[in-house]
Amino acid sequence: MFARGVGEETDIVTKEMYTFEDRDGSSLTLRPEATASVMRAYIEQRLDQRPGVQKLYYLGPMFRRERPQKGRYRQFFQIGAEAIGSESPSLDAEVIEMVVEFFRAIRLEGFQLLVNSVGCAKCRPAFIAKLREELAKAASSMCADCQRRAGTNPLRVLDCKVPEDQPIIEGLPSIVDHLCPECGAHFDAVRESLAERGIEFEVRTRLVRGLDYYMRTTFEVVHGALGAQNALVGGGRYDGLAESLGAKIHAPGIGFSIGEDRLVMSLEETRGGEFAARLQLFIVPLGAPASREAVGVARELRRRGVSVEIAPEGRLKRAMELANKLGAHYALILGEDEMASGRYTLKNMATGEQVGITRGELQERLGRG
Ligand code: HAM
Repeated sequence: MFARGVGEETDIVTKEMYTFEDRDGSSLTLRPEATASVMRAYIEQRLDQRPGVQKLYYLGPMFRRERPQKGRYRQFFQIGAEAIGSESPSLDAEVIEMVVEFFRAIRLEGFQLLVNSVGCAKCRPAFIAKLREELAKAASSMCADCQRRAGTNPLRVLDCKVPEDQPIIEGLPSIVDHLCPECGAHFDAVRESLAERGIEFEVRTRLVRGLDYYMRTTFEVVHGALGAQNALVGGGRYDGLAESLGAKIHAPGIGFSIGEDRLVMSLEETRGGEFAARLQLFIVPLGAPASREAVGVARELRRRGVSVEIAPEGRLKRAMELANKLGAHYALILGEDEMASGRYTLKNMATGEQVGITRGELQERLGRG
């Protein structure tokens, strides 16, 4: 499946896949990515017969035998989404918008969206032939990988990262100048739809991506905090993938995968200590009846999405010190007086301000999320 989906000649399949024999002699491969698997599930489960575009997601570990370095691991995690069942360029923009909105929601800053089109089975062969022609002259002065790729997979030469090769690569023909009219119009419409949505992007004509199933739109999100392995998200359209896997159906789609390990690194770099979610409420019960009450209060608030911890049995002063160390926004004191009057003491840990509050009011105040 991976050889047919991702591509026989890709680095992933030729060099990076963990394939081994199982005890019964069958061949097992640890998944290097999930788009081909999602497409196979789509085909097998006949999701094409369901109404509308099918929107699927996955979270989990992937495995590639790469040379480990900062941000590049042999087991890493992806958050991915695929939208299958439409060729519409506005779906491309919608899927990209989802990534951008997700980053906005988690307050990630400093990322950049790069887009390109790699054409289709109609226009790409002519471009590759042209590229091959140019590379026949230039490849001998390029890096060893490029010399090999010039023969096996000339498109991949375009995203070689070796600095000495860059002047040569700059001089190579650009794929967006060789798109057929349909792919050209599709790419124009994707850019228009992104602009209409207010999404900033840059066209990067060298962005070809390392998987063979891509067709038309490809995109990456890069982040400055990541260093050499700066791709945080990779994605694109794969309108011919179903056919490559041997299906009789046409299932055009587009999706992306976020590298979760790299996302965490980017967040740490840009947000520092603010990254970890802070405890909202630390309950300090004094005495056995208060401890029992605290359990109920904590349960009610947790059901409303509030993060709550209960102090271990002990003294008030100790517990307040712990509330501080944990970085809690509020402490709730349930002492004898509070239990008798039915009004707890809620202390704002940042300002020191204290108010009396009933159980019902507390839910109102903190439970709004
Ligand atoms: P990919 O570009 O191979 O695309 O991987 C997507 C993201 O996974 C990368 O941008 C990076 O953040 C992360 N990643 C890849 N390899 C490693 C590694 N060795 N260590 C840490 N992070 C890594 C795909 O996998 C496609 N399936 C994306 C896609 C979905 N295209 C269409 N739908």
